[in-house]
Amino acid sequence: MKKKMSKKMWGGRFKKPVDKAFAEFSKSIQYDYRLAEYDIYHSLIHVDALHREGVITKGERGKLLEALGDILYEIKKGRFKFTAAAEDIHTDIQNKVEKKVGTLALKLHSLRSRNDQIVFDEKFYCIDEGQKLLNLLSEVLQSLLWLSKKNKNKLIVGYTHLQRAQIIPFSDYSMAFFYMLKRDFDRIANFLGTLCPALGAGALAGTPLRRGAYRKALDKMLKLKARSFSLDQCLVKNPLDTVSERDFIVELLSALAILQMHLSRFAEDLILYSTKEFNYINLPEDFCTGSSLMPHKKNPDFLELVRGYTGRIYGNLLSLLATLKGLPLAYNRDMQLDKEPLFSSVEVIKDELKIMARFIRGISLNTNQINKAFEDEGLYATELAEFLAMEKKMPFKKAHDLVGKLIRYSEDKKIKIRNMPDSMLSKFHPGLTAQVIKRVMNPHYVIKVKKSISRKLPTFKK
Ligand code: ARG
Repeated sequence: MKKKMSKKMWGGRFKKPVDKAFAEFSKSIQYDYRLAEYDIYHSLIHVDALHREGVITKGERGKLLEALGDILYEIKKGRFKFTAAAEDIHTDIQNKVEKKVGTLALKLHSLRSRNDQIVFDEKFYCIDEGQKLLNLLSEVLQSLLWLSKKNKNKLIVGYTHLQRAQIIPFSDYSMAFFYMLKRDFDRIANFLGTLCPALGAGALAGTPLRRGAYRKALDKMLKLKARSFSLDQCLVKNPLDTVSERDFIVELLSALAILQMHLSRFAEDLILYSTKEFNYINLPEDFCTGSSLMPHKKNPDFLELVRGYTGRIYGNLLSLLATLKGLPLAYNRDMQLDKEPLFSSVEVIKDELKIMARFIRGISLNTNQINKAFEDEGLYATELAEFLAMEKKMPFKKAHDLVGKLIRYSEDKKIKIRNMPDSMLSKFHPGLTAQVIKRVMNPHYVIKVKKSISRKLPTFKK
């Protein structure tokens, strides 16, 4: 006997059964099973609206809600098993309800379309997963604050063009990543504030159920879930737009691409600073790997993978943008392909953040090596020029030129500026003495004279 295909949600007008290979090709159940919980929410609201409008009786409503509740319970317990033969999650749940309540289940799909269901499900997914992303991101932000506080009085070399530039407090460095990621946090939080799942779009033209019924049903469900949305925003204003709207996914994928860009920059810096060449920081051993051949290796694989995943996360955004380009109104099956990029970005970034929060707490500074770098006199050149401009009232361009010449002289004569006698220094400027050099070419001096920045560490609570 031929293997029975799962029951479809359409088919009345077809004489021929669907081609097997095509059926496989068109399925989304293997990834959209992740939406099961939200699909149930859609049905719970829908059943309530159907009853309010007299499409189903109170008894039928009760039976359907019970069946849906049972499936939701399975999902919540992590025991839900999707049927691989089903076309998608909507079909699967419909069939599961039918198994529980028989033909009454055929009323479940009255006056609604999967086109409208899928947008609702995806919005709810974004709301839930977005919140999880925020929680994880806030752990990373806490860790960065912790690292900055722990090394409050430590200094480090700051770079521009990856060339040594000026000495900076380590916390300025670590907090730079805090502020980047804090903007990502705000970006995602703002995005979540705009999301509102809507019902009643039908396939593209609306449904015979009154707005008020959807509104009341939605309100009831949201109260049960302790969610607050602006209900007006949740009403369908234009059904064509509602069923073909995917910009909210593009928006989340964009926010995640920016977040990933920041994570990759952080990863790259840590990789670089932990090399023997820089050697400013030590990475936590429990997040590094060794080499099967070279016994001495301690490789920063976690950071490399974070850097590497950037390709995937950018690709997910581009993939969806390209899929949506030029699509005619309203729903098109192309849109089914929005899910894998969405799930992939959300899942990869959640994993990265989970590990990153703990990774950061394992970073330690290699103060000896950092202090060795501070012997480089070039690191004080800017402050020396600023000293001449501020205290000796020299035009800065001249001071800049003078310090440049002093450094050149020191290199040519192979004598450190710190070791030059007053007689040699005064040739450059009468105000330059060994004592001045000693005062200015000091890591703590260069930090003390910077007055333009408020360095108070922010408090961050999610
Ligand atoms: N699996 C479909 C998707 O994700 C659900 C919507 C199907 N609608 C349709 N008219 N075939 O887009």
